[in-house]
Amino acid sequence: MARIVIKKKIKNFNKIINVDGDKSLSIRSLLIGSQSYGLCKIKNLPKSGDILSTINGLKKLGIKIFFKNNICYLHGCGLNGFNYKKNISINAGNSGTFARLILGLLVKSPYKIKISGDKSLSRRDFQRVINPLEQFGAKFKSTKKNNLPLKILGSEFLKPINYFEKRGSAQCKSAIILAALNTPGKTVINAKKSRNHTELFLKYLNLPLKIKNKKKIDEIEIIGENQFKSFNYKIPGDISSSSFFIVLTLLTKNSKLKIKDVNVNPTRIGFIKIVNKMGANVKFINKRNICGEQLADICVNSQKKFKPINCPVELNSNAIDEFLLIFLLASRASGISSFKRLEELNKKESPRLKLASKILKKIGVKVKLGAGSIKIFGNPELSINKKIFINNYYKDHRIFMTSVIAALCLGGKWIIEDMESHKSSFPSFLKILRKVGYKF
Ligand code: S3P
Repeated sequence: MARIVIKKKIKNFNKIINVDGDKSLSIRSLLIGSQSYGLCKIKNLPKSGDILSTINGLKKLGIKIFFKNNICYLHGCGLNGFNYKKNISINAGNSGTFARLILGLLVKSPYKIKISGDKSLSRRDFQRVINPLEQFGAKFKSTKKNNLPLKILGSEFLKPINYFEKRGSAQCKSAIILAALNTPGKTVINAKKSRNHTELFLKYLNLPLKIKNKKKIDEIEIIGENQFKSFNYKIPGDISSSSFFIVLTLLTKNSKLKIKDVNVNPTRIGFIKIVNKMGANVKFINKRNICGEQLADICVNSQKKFKPINCPVELNSNAIDEFLLIFLLASRASGISSFKRLEELNKKESPRLKLASKILKKIGVKVKLGAGSIKIFGNPELSINKKIFINNYYKDHRIFMTSVIAALCLGGKWIIEDMESHKSSFPSFLKILRKVGYKF
């Protein structure tokens, strides 16, 4: 397995960059496009592992997809327009979003379809989507309880449902919304707040969807079986990918960075709110709306001191993919930071809360780990001058990239295994690091 060895901190920089397209919006554009009628044109789609798994999966379901001049073209075949033979099997690779959302689109499938995934995805919970999709009328069979591989068999007689999504999981909410598209009648979802890209996408396409934003819950009503036309879409930059470079800038003396054309949907910017509460001054400029989503350029400067944080739990879902980076900042804060109700973090590509605690201890940070909580005893002088070995982390792309950022900011000699893992969400990560000035 390829590994990366980092022996030096990065030098100060002043750069302007673009990051790869947003993973959540890329997967949604392909899946929703597959249900439209006609030719969709999707710009700035990253060729990351998760997106390639989505494309290959849709191709198995009979959807024609091709690239020309780096633009993705997809022939949508309308609602329930998939066209495939008996006994097909779809490998979702590392992508939880694709595996869970595609199940929503298969609730009417006439034949059994097998969904499998890599080692990391095969340990993740699928009961959260099986429960609501069974209520629509789909049937499931899995060899290991709650996990992949599983088989789904759809139903001709789907019923709309009324469902309470209590985890704040956008994947679960979106699987239900996609199932509702193919179901006659009105489906109602009361969902704990989470990223709302699926809702905004369908609104952008003028589909009959109503959203009532309550304090902690969003009530979503959707009327199914409305055919819609194909669309053009441009994927904005991914704020989760941007966050690695935001932290790199914050922790590197005399540095400055602008990241252009990033999606700053309010349900995705928990990370920015948290780091600003810790004393950073990350700003959005040039705000605009494109394809129903908010975009901005992000400006960040290095920062000398960080305050510890008692992290508000309301921000957990909006920062869910960025906690490893937040923990890294907390380890340089001048005091004890506390994070609670983060059980979901252990259900990601790896048990992230547990692994974060292990890695922080390795680099000399005192931590107190609970079932869904962590206390980090920050040290503003934290710097490393020993060998750090990072391995056995389920090839979790975010663990790989956070470790690289830690190595470039804190020093020491880092050997990080499974270098290719970053490609599942952010294939240009190393190329952009080079642009910012790191020499591998
Ligand atoms: C995603 C939702 C989040 C997130 C994942 C992408 C999505 O997962 O962690 O990377 O695109 O809907 P959950 O919905 O399970 O919290």
